[in-house]
Amino acid sequence: MTRRPFYITTAIDYVNGEPHLGHAYEKITTDVIARWRRFCGDEVRFLTGTDEHGIKVQKTAADHGLDPQTYVDGLVPKFKSAWEALDIEYDRFIRTTDPDHEKSVLELLRRIRDNGYLFEKTYNGWYCEGCEGFKTEKDLPGGKCPEHPTREPKWLEEENLFFKLSAFTQPLLDHIAAKPSFIEPASRRNEVLKVLEGGLDDISISRSKGAVSWGIDIDFRPDSVIYVWFDALINYLTGAGFGTDDALYERFWPTAVHIIGKDITRFHCIIWPAMLLAAGIPVYDRVFAHGWVTTGGAKLSKSAGGGGASADPGYLAATYGPDAVRWFLTSQVTYGRDGEFSLEQFENIYDAHLANGLGNLVSRSVGMAKKYFGGVPDPAGLAPDELLSTACATAVSECTAAYDGYALHDGAAAAWKLVTLCNEQIQLREPWKMAKDEARADELKAFLYGILETLRIACVLLAPVLPGKTAAALAIIGAEGAVEQGLEAATAWGGLPVGIELERPAPLFPRLDQIERD
Ligand code: MSP
Repeated sequence: MTRRPFYITTAIDYVNGEPHLGHAYEKITTDVIARWRRFCGDEVRFLTGTDEHGIKVQKTAADHGLDPQTYVDGLVPKFKSAWEALDIEYDRFIRTTDPDHEKSVLELLRRIRDNGYLFEKTYNGWYCEGCEGFKTEKDLPGGKCPEHPTREPKWLEEENLFFKLSAFTQPLLDHIAAKPSFIEPASRRNEVLKVLEGGLDDISISRSKGAVSWGIDIDFRPDSVIYVWFDALINYLTGAGFGTDDALYERFWPTAVHIIGKDITRFHCIIWPAMLLAAGIPVYDRVFAHGWVTTGGAKLSKSAGGGGASADPGYLAATYGPDAVRWFLTSQVTYGRDGEFSLEQFENIYDAHLANGLGNLVSRSVGMAKKYFGGVPDPAGLAPDELLSTACATAVSECTAAYDGYALHDGAAAAWKLVTLCNEQIQLREPWKMAKDEARADELKAFLYGILETLRIACVLLAPVLPGKTAAALAIIGAEGAVEQGLEAATAWGGLPVGIELERPAPLFPRLDQIERD
């Protein structure tokens, strides 16, 4: 079978502070999609990283009495260790200070310049250092950036390099009309269309070194550095080997799906594709813009304190385990919309779904199989449990449709129905009563096999969200390696090896009262 290339990227985070739960949300959900696509048999390349240039980082470094390079070098390990703690399996962590990135930025700039889309002009206007964005009066109601109300916009007068973005209004409208899936969800596509319908202005893509020195030097313009967003967007090409690894580039570009937050769609859905069109490079496959993780209704952000210590992704992963964080954010936030995080709700979900739902199902089903059969019973010659096997087939198709369509919360819910169903059916059909009746021995065998098999299928469907705990549960029921079999083989009814002795497992999820909390 030929494997389809699939290139998925996250936004790259500013390194002017430590990673917070909003950053973690994006990395987790991207990892869920990447794991799902690997399970479906695709050849996946997953890129994440850090956005290290610009005035915001330069100033924060200065506030710490450090030169920018030393400052970012100190912070990057915190991002990497947070993603490791959350089981994020990326293929490359890109830093915009990486030498191959600098090379690809200058190459893209050269192509755009050769194609006649750059010119010089004086920029007279506003700049929001929070967004690292050039702003018009219209963007600053009441003189403030709505995203960064505590920062004063700066007035700039600089002789800059400009990019003829205006030339791409119609090509972008045409591109979206021909391929609506280019921007998802539809609400974001409509916002972008509105901006395009109003017409695009040309944009400045350099900053004078007098104002910002921390950036990529422009070879043909020694007094300037490249504007941080122009530099940052190109990371997606660098990460696909543009200008450095032709085989990688041929394989993965332009299959890219960019997962980003809804606050940066203009950069990704307007400026970025226009840059590619201007350079004569094919445009990526799509952007999916997720919503915000909020606390107390407000966007979780560095300036708002990152939600406090109890919302720190490192603390949550270390205290409750990475899968608990992954589960809450994936299953409780509708992908594409905002969702609220509170420690109380997080613990409620941990308790109800993980400790009592999945954890309990593993221990009681394995306990009964061991007690009555010593291990996985062999249902040979018996009809499969109709209700359970049908529910599995339904879950597989619902889950596939949902994950494929980036409705991750629905995918998690579809798989979760199997966990709930098993617990309900155990309660309802009372296998302990079957065990007391010789005449019901086959019924017990078929039922308990059905429960363990349904648990196996639930685990492979939940594995993208709960990679660690589902791997543990699969090992407990003698089905390790099920995920590696891939979607088709792993979800076919009857895949659980029989006759395997089972051991009474330690609880899959510790109870809340056994977890030491700060
Ligand atoms: N450096 C730019 C992105 C450049 S991509 C070429 C940037 N950095 S950021 O650190 O501010 O944000 C990184 C990502 O995290 C963005 O996609 C942003 O939307 C996301 N989030 C930041 N706070 C968030 C929440 N509270 N909730 C969900 N995602 C959020 O923008």
